[in-house]
Amino acid sequence: MDIVQIKDKRFGLTISEKEILNAIESVAQRINADLQDKNPLFICVLNGAFMFAADLMKFVTIPSEVTFVKLSSYEGLMSTGKVKEVFGLTENLSGRTVVIVEDIIDTGKTMANLIESLGSKNVAEVYVATLLLKPEALEHTVPLDYVAIEIPNDFIVGYGLDYDGYGRNLRAIYTLIP
Ligand code: IMP
Ligand code: MG
Repeated sequence: MDIVQIKDKRFGLTISEKEILNAIESVAQRINADLQDKNPLFICVLNGAFMFAADLMKFVTIPSEVTFVKLSSYEGLMSTGKVKEVFGLTENLSGRTVVIVEDIIDTGKTMANLIESLGSKNVAEVYVATLLLKPEALEHTVPLDYVAIEIPNDFIVGYGLDYDGYGRNLRAIYTLIP
């Protein structure tokens, strides 16, 4: 399946499932080594990061917890620049080492907002693990501790990421064909 049609758009295969899983395993190995005595709390940012978080956690072997927060900033193909927190955190984060698990950092706005909202919670330290990074799109200063794959500034779908809600179930990553 090299080309997929989602609604009115066509997308071409750019990153295979195998390549994704290899990159995730490398990130997990670094986390296992770096955070082994820190009992980290992984915070998966829904909806997009659900698949990344599931596969990442299978490679994480250190004592850790996982929780979920739901945010959204995208409508269709363009970032709205506004982040809506749909539901938030209930855990006590005081003194915790937190690892935010994101699908993609584009402008960095979502991540910057999320980190700012953790500011009042007495977190010991915050790390960021993202499946994808678009370095050319970055506009905000955000920590980039664990980046699995860097991609060009193109719109992509699959492996959790959507176009208008569709395409999240694709096992690989596909790029918009202009
Ligand atoms: P940012 O706030 O501009 O960094 O945007 C981050 C959020 O926008 C991500 O968590 C994704 O949900 C979404 N996003 C960014 N780029 C893409 C893309 O190429 N395809 C689908 N969703 C994207
Ligand atoms: Mg997201």
